[in-house]
Amino acid sequence: MIDMMVRLENIYKTYISEGEEVHVLNGIDLIVNKGQIISIEGASGSGKSTLLNIIGVIDRPDSGNLWIEEEKIDFSNQQKLDEIRALKIGFIFQHYYLLPDFTILENVMMPLWIMKKRKIKIKNALLEAKEMLDLVGLSHRLYHYPSQISGGEMARATVARALVGEKQLILADEPTGNLDKENSNKIIELLWDLQKKLNFTLIIVTHDRELAEKIPIRYKLDNGKLYPLKKEQNAKSINSLP
Ligand SMILES: Nc1ncnc2c1ncn2[C@@H]1O[C@H](COP(=O)(O)OP(=O)(O)OP(=O)(O)O)[C@@H](O)[C@H]1O
Ligand SMILES: [Mg+2]
Repeated sequence: MIDMMVRLENIYKTYISEGEEVHVLNGIDLIVNKGQIISIEGASGSGKSTLLNIIGVIDRPDSGNLWIEEEKIDFSNQQKLDEIRALKIGFIFQHYYLLPDFTILENVMMPLWIMKKRKIKIKNALLEAKEMLDLVGLSHRLYHYPSQISGGEMARATVARALVGEKQLILADEPTGNLDKENSNKIIELLWDLQKKLNFTLIIVTHDRELAEKIPIRYKLDNGKLYPLKKEQNAKSINSLP
């Protein structure tokens, strides 16, 4: 019990699209323990982002339960949802979403500003964001704007933004989807290094076979159900990564 980061129980989600019901998630059960790295794979439209957004309490299920650590999530309490997200969850999206009118440093500080509960001082937020940008190798890009840095650098800035505030649950939706092979490899290596250092739980949605094969625990989403991929299809041990 104590080591559990995420638990999903019998999650259902249906969208209505052009008058038709689309049953995206049909009873999803999943347990992810602290410090684990897992993948969610599956065809385009199979519901991977929907599932990740429910875990990240951005979207709500029609029925079923979600626990983050020992806390059962009340999807009707928006204030509480915002708080859980701000305190515990970091997102890495394929399309970065760095704010164009803010510097890289300001973008990375942003999640700390909204962590009202920690009452973090600007000075400390600045230090923490700088440290994180240093860890991802962007110390020389603090005062650049997103339009002034490369795609690989934007991806690294997004990783830094996801991790500040000692986030314990990192959700990555196609983190290498926008990158060439060289930059993809660099981002994977970076994520793996940081995970070893900081020991967060990492859930990665991906189409990228090369990335998926490096992930120790893999699931496939198909027809609204989640299936563990067979052992022989599973990756080498985490110690031999990436
Ligand atoms: N807000 C929405 N309203 C209506 N239908 C939606 C909505 N969001 C997603 N869907 C539908 O739900 C299904 C699952 O979408 P989702 O984005 O979760 O898939 P995905 O597996 O992430 O796909 P991709 O690999 O292309 O990103 C799709 O058929 C999609 O059209
Ligand atoms: Mg998606």
